[in-house]
Amino acid sequence: VAKAYFSQELLTWYRRIKRDLPWRMNQDPYRVWVSEIMLQQTRVDTVIPYYERFMNKFPTVRALAEAPEPEVLKCWEGLGYYSRARNLQAGAREVVERYGGVVPDDKTAVAGLKGVGPYTTGAIMSIAFNRAEPAVDGNVMRVLSRYFCLEEDIAKPATRVGIEKLAVSLIPEGAAGDFNQALMELGALVCTPKSPSCLPCPVMEHCAARLAGRETELPIKTKA
Ligand code: ADE
Repeated sequence: VAKAYFSQELLTWYRRIKRDLPWRMNQDPYRVWVSEIMLQQTRVDTVIPYYERFMNKFPTVRALAEAPEPEVLKCWEGLGYYSRARNLQAGAREVVERYGGVVPDDKTAVAGLKGVGPYTTGAIMSIAFNRAEPAVDGNVMRVLSRYFCLEEDIAKPATRVGIEKLAVSLIPEGAAGDFNQALMELGALVCTPKSPSCLPCPVMEHCAARLAGRETELPIKTKA
C-alpha cells in the first residue's frame, strides 16, 4: 500500500484547504487543550462561538485555574457534558500547582491531567508540541480503515492500538500537528460516515476500500 503517497498528499491537501478555525491561530498548548475538550462530543460549528467566549473569559491556564467553578460552568452552558468543564478546570489547577502554569511538553505529564485521555494526549502533544504521537478518534479510524481496507472491528481496543501504530508510522517528519489535523479534516469534510465524497479526496487514487468498491462498508463496528 502507498503509505508515503498517503502522508504526502494528505498533508499538502490540508495545508491548502484547512479551515481557519480559532484554535488554529497559534500552537498555544492551553488553546489546543481547551479546543480538544470542547470538540470531544460537540461539532466544530457549535464549538466555535463557545470557544471564543471561553478564551476571552479565561485566556490562560492560570485564569481558568483561579476562576470560581460556577463561572466556568456558566461559560459552558449549552455545550453539555459538564464534567468536561469541571475536569478541564481541575486539570488547569494541576498545571498551576505542579508545573507553574505551563502545560508541560511531556506525554506522561499531559496524559496524567484530569479529563485528558489517550486521544486528547496525542492531540495536544502533536498539535501544540509537534511530537510524533497518534491522535486517533472515530474519524481517524474510519479514514484509515478505508484507505488500508482494514477489516478489524473498530469497537475492539486491540484494533485501536493497531490503528494508533499505523497512524504513528504515517506521520511525516516534523509535521505531526498538521498531519493529525489533516486526518481529522479528511474524516470531517470528505471521508464522512454515510456517503463519503471520494471525488475531491486527495488520496482516492490509492484508497483500498474505494478500489474494492467497499468504502461505505468500512469501518466495521459491532457494538454501538
Ligand atoms: N476535531 C477534533 N480536533 C479537531 C481539530 N483540531 N480540528 C478540527 N476538528 C477537530
